[in-house]
Amino acid sequence: MEKKETNITKNKKEAESRREVPKKYSGQRTIKEQAQIVLDFFKKTFQKKEEKIFQERFGARDYIETYYPVIENVAASLETFKEVQTAIKNKPGRFDMREIMETKHLKGEEVENIFIFDFQRNVSKELLKAFPADHIRTLDVGGGPTVYQHIFTAMVAGDITHSEFLEQNRQEVSNWVQGLSGGYNWDSYFELIKNIIKDDDNYIKIIENNLDSLDVSIREHALMIHSLLYGDTSDGIKKNLQKVIGDKIIFGDVFKQNLGIEDDKNSYEFVNSATRESAIELVTSNFTIESATSDKDKWRDGMRHIMDQVKIHGYLAISAIRNSSWYKVGGERMPAVAINEAELADVLTTNGFKILDQRVLEGSSKEDDGYDGMIFIFAQKN
Ligand SMILES: C[S@@+](CC[C@H](N)C(=O)[O-])C[C@H]1O[C@@H](n2cnc3c(N)ncnc32)[C@H](O)[C@@H]1O
Repeated sequence: MEKKETNITKNKKEAESRREVPKKYSGQRTIKEQAQIVLDFFKKTFQKKEEKIFQERFGARDYIETYYPVIENVAASLETFKEVQTAIKNKPGRFDMREIMETKHLKGEEVENIFIFDFQRNVSKELLKAFPADHIRTLDVGGGPTVYQHIFTAMVAGDITHSEFLEQNRQEVSNWVQGLSGGYNWDSYFELIKNIIKDDDNYIKIIENNLDSLDVSIREHALMIHSLLYGDTSDGIKKNLQKVIGDKIIFGDVFKQNLGIEDDKNSYEFVNSATRESAIELVTSNFTIESATSDKDKWRDGMRHIMDQVKIHGYLAISAIRNSSWYKVGGERMPAVAINEAELADVLTTNGFKILDQRVLEGSSKEDDGYDGMIFIFAQKN
């Protein structure tokens, strides 16, 4: 008798719970859990939609030609670099490019690229101080179809892995690394960067001091850099970068933990040591995390994933577009998320990074370009 009553009560309860939430949706889940499932479903659908935009509309060549056109006159660009550099030095940390664009008749992309190179020159110099004998493993995340970002790095680091989400971008870089005839011609960038370094007295002094080091590995490394810089052409620097990247052009999804590469044994070995701890002394990521989604939560995930890749006491160099919701690739608009320097710095410092260099370039045209400036941060993991 008692048993029968218990069953009735149980059935009643089940019926009630069925009434509250239809079983086909709920199973044993609470309302909160169900809401989360629906939210996750929409997020995944949205994510797939954004991935499709990149896969179908991001033209590798369109991107390069929009932002990194061949430099027609390297000598003139070098002069401009020096002039802009002096102006930047007078306003350390924050620079509005509008005035110099007007007085020197420069295009926005020209000033932006000068600012990018000035930052990368500093990163490369700091690395040379920290690792005078090299032994630097580098990972570039969202490397795109470009190699400009590796030129300064490869002067001081003998190991670069270029990770990128899109097949067409990996192919573009691979064509260049293999020296195939269809590869993009980056020669003018090599020539410019070689001369930027040669004009930096402080950089040259570090190399010269290292040439006199008692440590043979420091001396040999300095000798290699010296011979690259003082070769007749910039061909040595180019060949060196092709060797430094080699076959390390891998898939990487910044929105997945471990960049989604743990399933691919070959890729995984490039990035992680046998201990599964990060082995990367320098992680670089240029215009990627904020330029690969329009969702702020995903941006935070992406930031966490690249910070995870940095070895303890290793370095992270990031450049990003500022306050953006889109940017151009040829005639297409790609999604982006609006971030500013305070948010970027905050994510880094709250995750145990010390900021060594932070710069802001202001004055890009939000209307024409989709962003109002650029942010650059070089930081070290505690
Ligand atoms: C603005 S481009 C930057 C390219 C290059 N780093 C540069 O400095 O010019 C943004 C890059 O993010 C890549 N990207 C898009 N979705 C990504 C994802 N889920 N994970 C990693 N990279 C992604 C794009 O394919 C593209 O190469």
